[in-house]
Amino acid sequence: MPLSILRLLSADAFRSGQDISRQLAVSRASVHNAVALARALGAEIHAVRGRGYRLACRYTWLDATQLGRQLGEIGYTLELREAVDSTNSRLMLAAQQGEVHKRVLAAETQSAGRGRRGRDWLAQLGGSLTFSVLWRFQRPLTALSGLSLVVGLTLCRVLRAQGVSGAGVKWPNDVLVGDRKLAGILIETHGDMLSAATAVIGIGINVRVDAALAERAGQAVADLAGEMGRMPDRNDLLVAVLGALDEALERFDAQGFAPFREEWRALHAWQGRSVRVLGAAGATLTGEAVDVDEQGALLLATPEGMRAIHSGEVSLRTT
Ligand code: BTN
Repeated sequence: MPLSILRLLSADAFRSGQDISRQLAVSRASVHNAVALARALGAEIHAVRGRGYRLACRYTWLDATQLGRQLGEIGYTLELREAVDSTNSRLMLAAQQGEVHKRVLAAETQSAGRGRRGRDWLAQLGGSLTFSVLWRFQRPLTALSGLSLVVGLTLCRVLRAQGVSGAGVKWPNDVLVGDRKLAGILIETHGDMLSAATAVIGIGINVRVDAALAERAGQAVADLAGEMGRMPDRNDLLVAVLGALDEALERFDAQGFAPFREEWRALHAWQGRSVRVLGAAGATLTGEAVDVDEQGALLLATPEGMRAIHSGEVSLRTT
């Protein structure tokens, strides 16, 4: 319900509650409640007595028809949901039940969005792009080590092409502007070690983050609206990211991480920085982030010599 109303609103002019209720054949109270719900989910809407409602900025809403057609041309099948718990959780379940290669699940809101290392992924209605894609590789799980870097690099490249010229990558797969996080990636896999691997690649992009959410995020955040000076069209963005991922994942499946290494190095935001690697069991290792190897492992110069960090479950902090 909130979305059918939001689609009738614009950032340019007020529209009265009465007008909306007539058009949708619902009561005024339903319109009022839906606007309240949209606001509670984080959409910013101005309401002025006697004039009605107006969007605080040029939100774009995901359009199933347009996306279905454009993504269909590059071999994806799309499911677009207004609300889910987590697109990754849903698609992982679907993967176990035999869901097809290149299935995409995008959602306007997630009630239980998940980040790496068991963290929550917070987002606001209209202010983020959250989706997951199921990819069935030819290569086994044991040969997916560079995958998260390839996804991060591809996303970074697309965001730079959209005008975020300062976007960079942080190992293994965050996309940053300076030290502020612009997008996150959660990759989950399915299958045994030696047979062809299936991955669910979940991506969350900050499109417009307000001060309250930035505070709750627990880390410095960047958003596209701030970096580009305007609200991007999220439909175009989704098509651009999935188009670029299609090529990159095909290439990664055939050739691994090696062909991506140079570009990754060029965009490495923390190159040469002194970092602390936090392992899953609480162990820490300090050194200088000097490079990534052909498999995508982070090469860390430590007082004890060069160490290769393979695990995707580590978290890097500057010292
Ligand atoms: C991180 O940086 O911690 C990873 C964030 C990944 C968030 C995305 S949003 C779409 C997909 N569904 C989820 O529940 N998480 C990922």
